[in-house]
Amino acid sequence: MRLANKTALVTGAASGIGAEVAKSFEREGARVALVDRNGAGLREVAAAMKAPLVFEGDVADAGFVQSTVEALAKLDIVLTAAGMSVGKKLADTSEEEWDRVFAVNAKGTFLWVRAALPKMIAGGGGSVVTVASQIALSGGRGSASYAASKGAVIALTRSVALDYAADRIRANVIAPGAIETPFLHRSFARQADPGAVRQRLLDRHPLGRFGTVEEVARAALFLASDESSFTTGSVLMVEGGWNAA
Ligand SMILES: NC(=O)c1ccc[n+]([C@@H]2O[C@H](COP(=O)([O-])OP(=O)(O)OC[C@H]3O[C@@H](n4cnc5c(N)ncnc54)[C@H](O)[C@@H]3O)[C@@H](O)[C@H]2O)c1
Repeated sequence: MRLANKTALVTGAASGIGAEVAKSFEREGARVALVDRNGAGLREVAAAMKAPLVFEGDVADAGFVQSTVEALAKLDIVLTAAGMSVGKKLADTSEEEWDRVFAVNAKGTFLWVRAALPKMIAGGGGSVVTVASQIALSGGRGSASYAASKGAVIALTRSVALDYAADRIRANVIAPGAIETPFLHRSFARQADPGAVRQRLLDRHPLGRFGTVEEVARAALFLASDESSFTTGSVLMVEGGWNAA
């Protein structure tokens, strides 16, 4: 059990990557707090687990963040997987869309990590794992606000790694490529020709396929656990070679 006696909080836990990460953390012995705004999805994930704690709300709501973290007796691991995209080029992006994408992806990372840090420090240290995207580094077509917000996640995480290393906090980023989740399928559905976009994206991954939530969860487990004890400030690519291509 790689996370025995640990308490972990996972945002975006009602679906996709966050749901699989939450289940895998529990299998490794952690007490897991599930956070998402999707109550029905949360209940479904919780039903497949042993004894999760469930918190329904918006990750960008500072009051919700504070009360959730305060409700936990201790906190060793925080993983921020809640995220969204409007899937638009820059000139097509409204100010409201930009603000919402940044509220969920960037502020929704800032608030949780900020709230978690004092509790983790009080417990003697911990692991922060944030979720960016392969296109935070490469740039991405039709995703300007999303890519920019994920760039912010990387810079935030590396800064946390520097500022809190002396407190025994490690902070690392996972940068997934295209992963088979509802998020990816929604992004195809927004396109005029979803099949063509799907094929173009497949071709762009040197491994020639999309990733699975299990592959991302294994990376998350590595970064959350002591297996990565000398790893901090890193961006772990789980993107099938996208940025090498
Ligand atoms: N799937 C991919 O191809 C891919 C690629 C790169 C990065 N990512 C990132 O991985 C993370 C997880 O994505 P996924 O593919 O599992 O998506 P998903 O849509 O399956 O799950 C995202 C979850 O976040 C929740 N969420 C969104 N906004 C929220 C808010 N304001 N408050 C609370 N919960 C909110 C949703 O309800 C959902 O349960 C995201 O940050 C996404 O940007 C995904």
